[in-house]
Amino acid sequence: MEAPHNPAPVNSLGITVTSPEQMGDLGRRLAKLLRPGDLVMLTGELGAGKTTLTRGLGEGLGVRGAVTSPTFVIARVHPSLSEGPPLVHVDAYRLGGGLDEMEDLDLDVSLPESVIVVEWGDGKVEELSDDRLRVVIDRAVGDTTDEVREVTLTGVGTRWAEADLTLLSA
Ligand SMILES: Nc1ncnc2c1ncn2[C@@H]1O[C@H](COP(=O)(O)OP(=O)(O)O)[C@@H](O)[C@H]1O
Ligand SMILES: [Mg+2]
Repeated sequence: MEAPHNPAPVNSLGITVTSPEQMGDLGRRLAKLLRPGDLVMLTGELGAGKTTLTRGLGEGLGVRGAVTSPTFVIARVHPSLSEGPPLVHVDAYRLGGGLDEMEDLDLDVSLPESVIVVEWGDGKVEELSDDRLRVVIDRAVGDTTDEVREVTLTGVGTRWAEADLTLLSA
């Protein structure tokens, strides 16, 4: 007999963002929802705004150091300036082997006590947590300016089932 299939609960919200500043604001609002151990996966083409969102998130969390594109490193740890969780910012683009490599990075931080934000992590870092917030950033198509982005946030797993994603709307 087949094992019963219990699909993970899903909670989703779409937001239109019309400037880099608004993307930062969204990150700052998102920071208020996040707890230690949370995994945020950012998906979107180069220049979509993944790092811009993460920068706002880092400001909202109150962590040390400006969030930049981790070009020469795979992951960067931003410790909290107060009592909050550190931000672990991962660029998984060159992370071939997935989680094993992530563990090999020997980050001097406990992942269950951190907020982990991963760019380009699809298919690579899902094993880090059964619960994750997936953020897809798309450039708007059609007759819009270059700065319009459609952001779709999807919370997967019990952690996100009850979360009020509408708090993220401006
Ligand atoms: N609505 C927007 N949200 C985020 N970035 C935007 C937006 N409109 C224009 N931009 C610009 O697009 C670029 C996004 O870069 P970045 O955040 O590094 O993207 P990614 O990390 O996805 O490659 C920045 O130069 C930013 O100023
Ligand atoms: Mg980036």
